[in-house]
Amino acid sequence: MTDKIDVVYTEDEIDKRIAELGAQITRDYKGKEITMVCILKGAASFACELAKRIDLPMEMEYMRCSSYGNETESSGVVKIDLDLDHPIRGKHILVVEDIIDTGRTMSYLLDILKDRGPADVKLCSLLDKPDRRVVDVTIDYTGFVIPDEFIAGYGLDYAQKYRNLPYIGVIDPEV
Ligand code: PRP
Repeated sequence: MTDKIDVVYTEDEIDKRIAELGAQITRDYKGKEITMVCILKGAASFACELAKRIDLPMEMEYMRCSSYGNETESSGVVKIDLDLDHPIRGKHILVVEDIIDTGRTMSYLLDILKDRGPADVKLCSLLDKPDRRVVDVTIDYTGFVIPDEFIAGYGLDYAQKYRNLPYIGVIDPEV
């Protein structure tokens, strides 16, 4: 089986946008230390590149969660598979995600994080697919707004493949 992939954002375009986001975050958090929370697996590539573009003191933490649901839609019932290593009370939390789709996963995760008493929690997502939204989520920093299509690359998978692509593309599945 091979899938046809049409490039939507090239590696250069993504790099440029990440540099812009990093500069904006650096300005907004001036004088503060950020605790970046990368949501595995999809956000790993984005978080690494973004972190390098933020010129501030930073801790990096990782969470992994699974959302019960069918293959194409999360249910909003989220299980934490890997939790943060340290308490976040009083810290400036920047959650980094690859995509906000229905918003169910992030809505649940943000509530969990806010309950732990951080100074503040902001969200940065590489991609936003607003046409699919079911639950309102405020995205403080957005890389690209995309239509409702199957996309993969730059950390995002299609049936667990293509996370390693250096670009983002639309998948045209072939069987
Ligand atoms: C994806 C993505 C978000 C979530 C978005 O994760 O990384 O966490 O789905 O969907 P939602 O807005 O509809 O809740 P996935 O469960 O595919 O895991 P992965 O990051 O390991 O690929």
